[in-house]
Amino acid sequence: MSNLEKSGVFKLGGRTVRRIGYGAMQLAGKGVFGPPKDRAEAVAVLREAVESGVNHIDTSDFYGPHVTNQIIREALHPYRDDLVIVTKIGATRGADASWKPAFSKEALTQAIHDNLRNLGLDVIEVVNLRSMLGIHGPAEGSLEEPLSVLADLQRQGLVKHVGLSNVTAKQIADGRKITDIVCVQNQYNLAHRDDEALIDQLAAEGTAYVPFFPLGGFSSLQSSTLSDVAARLGATPMQVALAWLLQRGPNILLIPGTSSRGHLRENLAVADLALPADAIQQLDGIASGKPV
Ligand SMILES: NC(=O)c1ccc[n+]([C@@H]2O[C@H](COP(=O)([O-])OP(=O)(O)OC[C@H]3O[C@@H](n4cnc5c(N)ncnc54)[C@H](OP(=O)(O)O)[C@@H]3O)[C@@H](O)[C@H]2O)c1
Repeated sequence: MSNLEKSGVFKLGGRTVRRIGYGAMQLAGKGVFGPPKDRAEAVAVLREAVESGVNHIDTSDFYGPHVTNQIIREALHPYRDDLVIVTKIGATRGADASWKPAFSKEALTQAIHDNLRNLGLDVIEVVNLRSMLGIHGPAEGSLEEPLSVLADLQRQGLVKHVGLSNVTAKQIADGRKITDIVCVQNQYNLAHRDDEALIDQLAAEGTAYVPFFPLGGFSSLQSSTLSDVAARLGATPMQVALAWLLQRGPNILLIPGTSSRGHLRENLAVADLALPADAIQQLDGIASGKPV
């Protein structure tokens, strides 16, 4: 058994993936724009991830833009049969590195073709529609038009399964009237827990929940409780943050991002880190603001 199998598997679309995956956003340049400082290291990170048993990679063609997908193709194509690459559409990048909504039929169709070309695929296993109604968090509003466009591309055979990102429970329920929603990718971590009820609901339905910013994203998680628990367990704070997510729900799939093999190894080693009940209780208190 590879170490990663210790943390189990979960259904993602028509496939089953290991619960510890990899998020590719850190492979682009600063601000997720342009080429990385060290392209050879980016290629090495991807190859080591897959050789270590990662079979779920999260990406987007708007990382770079195009750069991250092109590096994935360079590092891993032809892809292993068991590798599931999940991408997302719904945004585009300005020349100044800004993130702009791109929800028109033309923009969404172009995004699918860009992903297919840059990844070197004929069909994409899972595509998340990333809501830009709120850039920094879910905001209510209809996603019917863009989701219908994506469902059309699915019927054309360019996309196998559809997920949603940065969305509310209502948008997921409404989305299911248009097509099956196989995963939800929202911000969630030790310190940011708006989706507690949603995670439980999706778990009961057998739908994968893929938290983005599992380590805090652009500002890494920092908490004295987290550091104390990590020191006690002989682990790093980031490892404890990932282990906490793994125990939070069986449907949680990890996609921590890193540009270095050192951090990749640390993140994958979480498969061997079991959190004792008292540590979980302490960590649970972090977002509540209650002293623990
Ligand atoms: N749907 C969406 O809207 C959305 C938004 C953001 C991200 N995402 C997806 O979610 C994935 C994960 O998010 P993310 O990469 O932004 O944030 P993250 O995984 O929470 O954190 C990444 C940051 O943590 C650092 N890091 C990684 N492993 C570490 C370790 N063991 N010790 C110390 N620092 C470590 C990385 O730096 P180093 O490179 O130096 O390791 C990077 O600065 C992305 O790759 C992307 O696929 C989706």
